Amino acid sequence: MCDAKYDILFEPLAIGPHVAKNRFYQVPHCNGGGYRDPSAAAAMRGIKSEGGWGVIFTEQTEMHHTSEITPFIELRLWEDKDIPGLRRMSDAMKVHGALAGIQLAYSGINGPNFYTKEVPLAPSALPIRTFTNDPVQARALDRTDIRNLRRWFVNAAKRSKIAGFDLICLYGAHGFGIFQHFLSRATNQRTDDYGGSLENRSRFAREVVADIREAVGDTTAITMRVSLDETIGELGFSNAEVREFVEMNADLPDLWDLAHGAWEDCSGPSRFKEEGAQEILVKGIRELSTKPVVGVGRFTSPDVMARMIRQGVLDFIGCARPSIADPFLPKKIEEGRIEDIRECIGCNMCITGDMTMSISRCTQNPTFMEEWRKGWHPERMNAKGESQTVLVVGAGPAGLEATRALALRGYDVTLAEATTTLGGRVARERLLPGLSAWGRVVDYRQYQISQRTNVETYFDSRLTAEDVLGFGFEHVAIATGSHWRRDGVARQHVVPMPIDPGMTLWTPDDIMAKIHPENLAGKTVVVYDDDHYYMGGVMAEVMAKAGATVILVTPSAYVSDWTRNTLEQGAIHVRLDDLGVDIRLNRGVTAIRAGEVETNCTYTGRRKAIGCDAVVMVASRLSEDALYNDLLARQADWRDAGIRTVEIIGDASAPAPIAWATYAGHRYARELDTPDIGDALPFRREVTQLEPA
Ligand SMILES: Cc1cc2nc3c(=O)[nH]c(=O)nc-3n(C[C@H](O)[C@H](O)[C@H](O)COP(=O)(O)O)c2cc1C
Ligand code: SF4
Repeated sequence: MCDAKYDILFEPLAIGPHVAKNRFYQVPHCNGGGYRDPSAAAAMRGIKSEGGWGVIFTEQTEMHHTSEITPFIELRLWEDKDIPGLRRMSDAMKVHGALAGIQLAYSGINGPNFYTKEVPLAPSALPIRTFTNDPVQARALDRTDIRNLRRWFVNAAKRSKIAGFDLICLYGAHGFGIFQHFLSRATNQRTDDYGGSLENRSRFAREVVADIREAVGDTTAITMRVSLDETIGELGFSNAEVREFVEMNADLPDLWDLAHGAWEDCSGPSRFKEEGAQEILVKGIRELSTKPVVGVGRFTSPDVMARMIRQGVLDFIGCARPSIADPFLPKKIEEGRIEDIRECIGCNMCITGDMTMSISRCTQNPTFMEEWRKGWHPERMNAKGESQTVLVVGAGPAGLEATRALALRGYDVTLAEATTTLGGRVARERLLPGLSAWGRVVDYRQYQISQRTNVETYFDSRLTAEDVLGFGFEHVAIATGSHWRRDGVARQHVVPMPIDPGMTLWTPDDIMAKIHPENLAGKTVVVYDDDHYYMGGVMAEVMAKAGATVILVTPSAYVSDWTRNTLEQGAIHVRLDDLGVDIRLNRGVTAIRAGEVETNCTYTGRRKAIGCDAVVMVASRLSEDALYNDLLARQADWRDAGIRTVEIIGDASAPAPIAWATYAGHRYARELDTPDIGDALPFRREVTQLEPA
């Protein structure tokens, strides 16, 4: 039963000619699949419909071939041929009563057109603005181009209607959509009646909305997505100008979709942004228009959501990541199952699917983008197989997810943990600065497991092969995690580097175990980062906060290089700089001696010593696979012990980010007792249909 205080979230509200059944609005988000994996993307949206969302959007859809963002994989609506794929998606969105929305993107100054080889068009002739500083410039749209572009929008709107969409979102946020390029004085330096005053800069938006309204407005709602503050300096489209723009064009779209600055700001990770962080920027905009407003802010708390509506800050609760982590979030609130919400941890792993043009993962929801590929449902497991008992060794993210999912399938699960807490690496890492929200990986699973009568958990249970053989479980999953290496082996060094025992050396495990002095004032610590994800930056932060003079040395050209994929890299650099960390890029470490670290330039090899008192070695990790190997050595004894299978999963198998571990745990649970598929592909995939030769 829904708690009455959340009833407000389930009140229907009109958007143009349609009525959304509730206030849960899945804002556009990509998924790394896009046009390459249309059925996988459609099934993912269908699950959200089942989960109770009132409005569900596609990701950005390139609406004309003269503007595309290759290598990124989004959707395309370039010709009628694209309609069936999109129809599959809108159909899936609507099965359980959601409104289906499509986001039309003309990328303008953001589209290098690598695939189509067309000359990019933008309000002003400037270099293309992408993550990769592509050496391409855009030509300024002339009046004919603008007329053409207006017609292309109408064509795309008509195709969207045929494809079954109820809502069209015009993309003008995150620096990615042409409407923003016209609105911002940074990207619009025109001197004609499309440039200069705000009224002129909004002309293009007004014209396109009017054109689309005339073409499909009777059946299709038009929404406009703008950034609350472009955050690119004085010339950027500021929060004050956004307010002026909305006031000036109060009734222009059927709904205002308020995103937050650049994409890095809007999808701010929990390490740097709280839930609802944009409230101050969004507050008061609703009063400037008679049209409803949707806003975002990694909303996972129904209390915060209800307050946003009650206080008139927003009309719709926009969610991207919370809808990925838990597609059933609205349903769970409606059914009064708040404790069952799988809260987004704000790690931004989902974004890496887009950034790496692969297919997205979610740390919390291993079924994300596997709904069609593997038939995985986020709330339901496949039926139990013929066996009954499973021993899971290790209660880190892999072990916890395996336990939760196996229990849901109906197995009797025994979870043995060597320490006195659940969570493994997450239990330790959640105590690091900025990472407390990551603890939700444990909290969600701990609660779910506590609700099951078919799980028994044993702490302080460091098992030997002999112990395991003595228990007689049918299946054994080894999820014993990993530990950080102290010998420097990672990318620069594939064999141990020379390290003098006279130097104090800590690994991240040591720092998390707090074996270092609390006060490091007067000490110089070198953090060597050859891991390149978040840990090196976090270690530098811990050391700086303990008072040390910190020098971060990394062979990469960026601090925490891989976090460019989670959109955190810039914020990490700023934080370290603010803490006074001395960042030395493109430098490796060749030797660690008593009192100094010898570094080398990754290009020239030139060496330079840095005097220091201690080193934090952030290299690679070693699997804790001793128990697994001992059991393998005793394979001849398994049958007598009643053991049918022993498998190693998660970091114990091969260390990787937490999302890999929850995926491995989930996969283990799904595949137990299922037929051997031999050499067949373990997922479905779509192969592009060949045109006649
Ligand atoms: C994986 C991912 C992909 C996104 N892709 C888009 C997109 O295609 N178009 C868009 O307007 N916003 C996109 N966004 C931004 C979201 O719509 C949203 O504004 C932002 O993530 C903040 O909402 P949240 O805190 O609920 O995640 C994306 C966000 C994520 C996490
Ligand atoms: S990957 Fe991380 S940020 Fe993205 S939805 Fe999942 S938990 Fe949230």
